[in-house]
Amino acid sequence: MSVLRVAIVGAGPAGIYAADLLLKAERKFAVSIDLFEQLPAPYGLVRYGVAPDHPRIKGIVNALREVLDGGDIRLFANVRFGEDITLEDLQRHYHAVIFATGAVRDADLTIPGVELPGSYGAADFVSWYDGHPDVPRDWPLEHREVAVIGNGNVALDIARMLAKHPEDLLPTEVPDNVYRVLEASPITDVHVFGRRGPARVKFTPLELRELGELRDVDMILYDEDFGVDPAAEELAKTNKQLLVISRILNSWRERETGAASRRLHLHFYAKPLEVLGDGKVEGFRYERTKPDGQGGVVGTGEIRELPVQALYRAIGYFGSPLPGVPFDERRGVIPNRGGRAIDDNDNEVAGVYATGWIKRGPVGLIGATKSDAMETVQNLLNGQAGWWTPAEPEPDAIRELLASRGVRYTDIHGWHRLDEHERSLGTGRGRERIKVVPRDEMVDISVGEAAS
Ligand SMILES: Cc1cc2nc3c(=O)[nH]c(=O)nc-3n(C[C@H](O)[C@H](O)[C@H](O)COP(=O)(O)OP(=O)(O)OC[C@H]3O[C@@H](n4cnc5c(N)ncnc54)[C@H](O)[C@@H]3O)c2cc1C
Ligand SMILES: NC(=O)c1ccc[n+]([C@@H]2O[C@H](COP(=O)([O-])OP(=O)(O)OC[C@H]3O[C@@H](n4cnc5c(N)ncnc54)[C@H](OP(=O)(O)O)[C@@H]3O)[C@@H](O)[C@H]2O)c1
Repeated sequence: MSVLRVAIVGAGPAGIYAADLLLKAERKFAVSIDLFEQLPAPYGLVRYGVAPDHPRIKGIVNALREVLDGGDIRLFANVRFGEDITLEDLQRHYHAVIFATGAVRDADLTIPGVELPGSYGAADFVSWYDGHPDVPRDWPLEHREVAVIGNGNVALDIARMLAKHPEDLLPTEVPDNVYRVLEASPITDVHVFGRRGPARVKFTPLELRELGELRDVDMILYDEDFGVDPAAEELAKTNKQLLVISRILNSWRERETGAASRRLHLHFYAKPLEVLGDGKVEGFRYERTKPDGQGGVVGTGEIRELPVQALYRAIGYFGSPLPGVPFDERRGVIPNRGGRAIDDNDNEVAGVYATGWIKRGPVGLIGATKSDAMETVQNLLNGQAGWWTPAEPEPDAIRELLASRGVRYTDIHGWHRLDEHERSLGTGRGRERIKVVPRDEMVDISVGEAAS
């Protein structure tokens, strides 16, 4: 073998870092990399998860772009693994595949009423405000009081996007349809609920501090939530992140409130019990909890209800199974050892690797996907689990296969066209870009067939 042909599925940070590391690794043979992405645009959650008012983080795209533009990777966008190409196809054309498909849906919250209209998953709302092509263009943002369940950074993103005055989003890449809906939102109160205490949160100081900087939004905290878990609060003093979080929360407790037109409430020790309503969300029932002394909580038996007209579940994302690929239903990942997929009998599966959130689960920052990729790439190159022997390794064969199936795939030039088009839409309106949202329009622009 003179060239190791590798397919990577998923052009989020994990897939792109894996491609970069494969190219840079010391090895005795050449590698050629084809990167398949189900969307007409690369970058995964950096484009379709990171909030539009976080331009610094969106800027990671510049580093990812350099990798894609290096000329050594072929991008096949608008190609969905499991529909447009299968594992058997990849086996015919490549020596190995790295799955970097992330986690794109919400974890389930199994409480009564969760299916009521007005009860939403964070992943859907995030996809909507970030202009994901596969979610509806409209969002029914017509409620005054809403609940957000969860104490991670996604919960804070959702709460901030709901509470923020939309004019303050204008300089960002927020899509036009999203801005229009946010502009008409009658929201007054956003209630964020964590099931544990303020010293056991998953969000980070920078993201928390941002809430307190929102214009015309009061931060509302409740004294009953503080001083409840002295052991955790003592422990938090030795953890820099938690120490800063504690200082921020305490500073807000001292603030004057009452003048702002919107309020963002943080409730702790509140375990979700039920979404209330007759045909639509009308309230949220929860049980007050208390520390169990081991980092968790137990119910106190005190049941409370709060009237809200919408509820957002931000309790974590979850990976989706890929046809023909081992899947751990409990953790929502491809079971693996150091990125080498393993089957039900704990045997390594030749040729199949995983990286990023589909390898490790849906936690961790973008940077963590780089170390993930390092381990996976090293193990792939070691070849311990074995590679496939492709029957059709010729580089053009995969193009012919996709064309024969009528797949309207786009490539790196197509992405450049779309990227430039979006930037040009932003020019003159003082915005870096305005995203094109409908999938067909994205593809038309990419392949140069857009109506002028
Ligand atoms: C709402 C939200 C906000 C976040 N904000 C930040 C932040 O501000 N800073 C930070 O550091 N981290 C942030 N993160 C975490 C960060 O997004 C993740 O660490 C990172 O994106 C995981 O990378 P990944 O490549 O594994 O997955 P993803 O980014 O999800 O990429 C997976 C890619 O695979 C593609 N794919 C999936 N299935 C298929 C298929 N069948 N065929 C072809 N392609 C497929 C997807 O379309 C996607 O492009 C955020 C996460 C979320 C959920
Ligand atoms: N700006 C940023 O840097 C940014 C923005 C967004 C996301 N991210 C990253 O992306 C990753 C995913 O974030 P995330 O917020 O989705 O997940 P997360 O950090 O794991 O937080 C999930 C939250 O949901 C709670 N939860 C889980 N199940 C629950 C249930 N049944 N009932 C009530 N609450 C429940 C958890 O509480 P327990 O702790 O009690 O389990 C936790 O507070 C994180 O690493 C995050 O830092 C970063």
